[in-house]
Amino acid sequence: MISNMSKLSQPHLLGIKNITPKDIELIFETTANFKEVINRPIKKVPSLRDVTIANIFFENSTRTRLSFELAEKRLSADMINFTASNSSVKKGETLLDTVNNVLAMKVDMVVMRHASVGAPHFLAKHIKAKIINAGDGTHEHPTQALLDTFSIYEKLGTLAGKKVAIIGDILHSRVALSNIFALLKMGAKVMVCGPPTLLPKYISTLGVTVEYDVQKALEWCDVANVLRIQLERQQIKYFPSLREYSLYYGINKKLLDKLNKKIVLMHPGPINRGVELTSDAADSHHSIILDQVENGVAVRMAVLYLLAGAAA
Ligand code: NCD
Repeated sequence: MISNMSKLSQPHLLGIKNITPKDIELIFETTANFKEVINRPIKKVPSLRDVTIANIFFENSTRTRLSFELAEKRLSADMINFTASNSSVKKGETLLDTVNNVLAMKVDMVVMRHASVGAPHFLAKHIKAKIINAGDGTHEHPTQALLDTFSIYEKLGTLAGKKVAIIGDILHSRVALSNIFALLKMGAKVMVCGPPTLLPKYISTLGVTVEYDVQKALEWCDVANVLRIQLERQQIKYFPSLREYSLYYGINKKLLDKLNKKIVLMHPGPINRGVELTSDAADSHHSIILDQVENGVAVRMAVLYLLAGAAA
C-alpha cells in the first residue's frame, strides 16, 4: 500500500513532539486506507503476518488497549497482552527486566502505557523492539492526538486555520499536550481553557492562547475537545468541588445550542458524565465522540503498519 519513499522519520512513536507534519500526513493517508478496510465485510488484512506485538499496560485502559488489540488483529499480527496488576511487577521486577523477558520471547513491537513520564523513551534507548507510547503519565499520548486530529480533519476537511479549544484539566492531561503538538504542526489555532489551577504556567510558550471563560472559548472555536478531570492524578485540591467545576466549566447542550453556529464536540473518554459534559451534550448531534473511537482503530493500524516498515 505504501511505497518505500513513504516512511516515517522515526523508528518509534514516542510522542508527537518529535514527528514531522509529513509523518502526520502519511499517517492520515494510511488511516483513510485502513478505515476503508475495517468497513468491509472482511475486515482483516495480512499486512503484519509474522510480526509479534506485546501490549504492556502498567495503567488502566479501556479504549486504548482494546483499540490497539483490534488494530493488531485486523492486521493479522500475533499479539500478547500484559497488565501490571496481575504480573511479576507486583513481586518487585524492574521495567527493563519485565520488558527484556517479554522480548526474549521474540517480540518485534511493544505498545506501552506507563505512569512514569519518559518510560517509553527510556525503553527505546535500551531495547531493540519498536516502541509505541500508549500514554506516559501526564506527558504524551500520541495515538490519541493522531485519532483526534484525524477526526477533525475528516469532519472539517482540513486542520489549517481551524480553531480548536481544549477545555478542562490541561495540567494532568497527556492528551492535551499531544493534541497541542499535533494541531500546531498541522496549522490549526489552539486555545486552552480551564480553571487557572489546572492550566500549567508554561502553556502559552507552546504557542496556544489561554482562556478562563468557557463561554468565550466556545464562542471562539470550531472544535471543542473536552477533557476529563483526572482526579487520580490530583494529590491536592485544584478546585473547591466537582459541583462547582461543572457549574463553571461543565458543557451542556443548552450552552452549545445557544452558540448558533456549528461546533464539533470531542472527548477522548472516559467521560465523567455530569462533570465536564452533560449527557445531553455528549450524545447530541454536535458530538463526534464515537467517531473518534472508530477512527482510533484505523489510526493505530496505520501507526503499527508504518512503524513495522520503518528502519530500526
Ligand atoms: C485518556 C488517557 O488515558 O490519557 N484516555 C484515553 O486514552 N482514551 C484520557 C483520560 O484518561 O481522561
